[in-house]
Amino acid sequence: MITYRFLTQHCSLALAVALYSQAALAADDLKADPDKRAASTVAAMTLDEKIRTVFGYFSSDFKGVAKPKDGVPYAAGFVPGVERLGIPHQQLTDAGIGVATQPSPAPRVRTSMPAGIASAASWNPALSYAGGAMIGKEARLSGHNIMLAGGVNLQREPRNGRNFEYAGEDPLLSGVMVGEQIRGIQSNQLVATVKHFAYNDQETGRTKVNVKIDDAAGRMSDLLAFQIAIERGDPGAVMCGYNLVNGYYSCENDYLLNRVLKRDWGFRGYVMSDWGATHSTIPAALHGLDQQSGWPFDQSPYFNDALKEAVQNGHVPHKRLDDMARRILRAMYANGLMEHPVRIEADKIDLNAHAKVSQSAAEEGIVLLKNSAALLPLADTYATIAIIGGHANVGVLSGGGSSQVYPAGGSPVPNEGPKTFPGPIVYLPSSPMKALAARMQAKFVYHDGKDAAAAARVAAASDLAIVFATQWTAEDLDQPDLALPHKQDDTIAAVAAAAKKTVVVLGTGSPVTMPWLGAVDAVLEAWYPGTNGGEAIARVLTGEVDASGRLPATFPASISQLPRAAIDGTGLSKEARFDSDYNIEGAAVGYKWFDKKGYQPLFAFGHGLSYTTFAYSGLAARATQGTLAVSFKVTNTGKRDGKAVPQLYVSKVGGGWEAPKRLGGWDKLTLKAGASGESRVSIDPRTLALFDSRSNSWKIAAGTYRVMLAEAADKPVATVSLRLPARQFAAGAR
Ligand code: BGC
Repeated sequence: MITYRFLTQHCSLALAVALYSQAALAADDLKADPDKRAASTVAAMTLDEKIRTVFGYFSSDFKGVAKPKDGVPYAAGFVPGVERLGIPHQQLTDAGIGVATQPSPAPRVRTSMPAGIASAASWNPALSYAGGAMIGKEARLSGHNIMLAGGVNLQREPRNGRNFEYAGEDPLLSGVMVGEQIRGIQSNQLVATVKHFAYNDQETGRTKVNVKIDDAAGRMSDLLAFQIAIERGDPGAVMCGYNLVNGYYSCENDYLLNRVLKRDWGFRGYVMSDWGATHSTIPAALHGLDQQSGWPFDQSPYFNDALKEAVQNGHVPHKRLDDMARRILRAMYANGLMEHPVRIEADKIDLNAHAKVSQSAAEEGIVLLKNSAALLPLADTYATIAIIGGHANVGVLSGGGSSQVYPAGGSPVPNEGPKTFPGPIVYLPSSPMKALAARMQAKFVYHDGKDAAAAARVAAASDLAIVFATQWTAEDLDQPDLALPHKQDDTIAAVAAAAKKTVVVLGTGSPVTMPWLGAVDAVLEAWYPGTNGGEAIARVLTGEVDASGRLPATFPASISQLPRAAIDGTGLSKEARFDSDYNIEGAAVGYKWFDKKGYQPLFAFGHGLSYTTFAYSGLAARATQGTLAVSFKVTNTGKRDGKAVPQLYVSKVGGGWEAPKRLGGWDKLTLKAGASGESRVSIDPRTLALFDSRSNSWKIAAGTYRVMLAEAADKPVATVSLRLPARQFAAGAR
């Protein structure tokens, strides 16, 4: 046994105290008190060791700086450990859909979950957790102990190139789904990182845009999504974003980092900067940044020698440096990183089993948007089926940028898209056509769809045409508009005019317009469906599983319905700074904006058809413990087994909110044909409240509230009203 005397004889007093108290704590419960353990370790650290802990490197050769010696190569980041204190290296990997590889000669083969937007479309938190647990396991077996996932930026802008990484437009849905992913990742004794804090909702001029938004509007929208994800997932880290908020860079924004995150929400982990998002030493350290990431992405190694000097000359109190290091170590202790060291054991990754985890999420995230005359699920009666476009004969598309996960055997469609970041375009080798052919007797004919007239001829000669339309979206690249690229609208229109029946399967990262909608029979939004995407699509098309995804974001009918005609900053030089006024829509993001304006979207938030039908009864709501408890019964009234996604929207009679209604809760039920199930949903009290900046608290006004049970934001099925008393609760409470 290690005694205190033994330690004092062999090490310095401070180190002995630290090691002894660690050992004593370890004897109790290793995870018992991460705060105490972190504090005692910090007490034993030298100034240099603290500086080393708050300064991170990029893991590839970059800008003439060689990759760090002990870092997992071609990953996102590395922070050296302190061996004598048992602090391991921090090995960082992207991102939300799996273990990504930075562009490299030999990308790592890992499992790709469906895009974040697709997982959100499942409205099934258990699948988010399972997906997080799976990618976290691959991260661990790849030698990583820190994962740069989950992304929870709200979809304010349907043209944002990173929408595919996030979880849609509603703060409650996004927060819950991403919070569960974080919990799943951290179940592997890893640190997860919620990002990009905050308002990093467009890629155009992402390092130059200054978002202007009022406190209350933000607390009820983007910040609420983060708040819910953090309270649910308890991530060790928060990544601050590239953009400025109300005049200050996110990574040196006292309001965001010190006041909202650390004070109001009581966040005990650490804030790391996005790669290239640190802009100073003293303001950043004093205003809440705990770790600079990804050197040499920034202009200067602000948190290296410059921070040491600032601490030595008193511009940054030593206490604050201690706090920075303590927060990082706390996250590591709390998540078991010291007791469960990571090693590269890639051969232990069960790619087949993991592909099934991904497939389950993809299947529940596919949204059936239209299904005229119940064309789907496909009957096995067609002699010839034309498959057109989207490289559906070989694979499914994935989104681009730092989150890119590479498949076994490489992309079956090489050499597409930009040669440099955020390219290349990567397809995952899971062919929807092959998966359909394995299930159906029809003869399948493939046409690439590039020549609309030729595609139409192939369609005319078949009994059914299935068009796979794709939209590659990527980090650092917004979409110019809401249209499918490369004239695919023309191809779909031509095919629909020529074919007996037409199904469109969309592989997009965000909402698109559909000028051909009236001419086609069925539309399925499959997003970027991940490693087994082809299988998932085929199983939904053939009805092996129900279509049970629901839209996590509104599909606008046109750009004229959006708060902005063009994304702010469009056409400006790369260096130009500019504002984006989020107060235009404020907290009325997505369907709230459409409701407020009376706009009819192409497809509403929450929309998605099933292959069966559901009836709802017994809707009841009662006030309880400061919120609302809602119950109702759902019956599968159709002939097929299926999954219902009953949604509860709340509104205040007399108004006064940013929008007529808000999503307050939901359920997802699996019901056999003819079976019924009971739902009990507790409404998140913040969706009944207004944020009051003056008192820095949430306020539920006394009055009458409506609870609307619905199949989509535009499809109510029952409503009840009740009176609620006034209630006020702190900014970080619920
Ligand atoms: C992205 C982050 C990512 C980081 C590290 C940045 O460009 O914005 O989401 O985690 O790079 O790769």
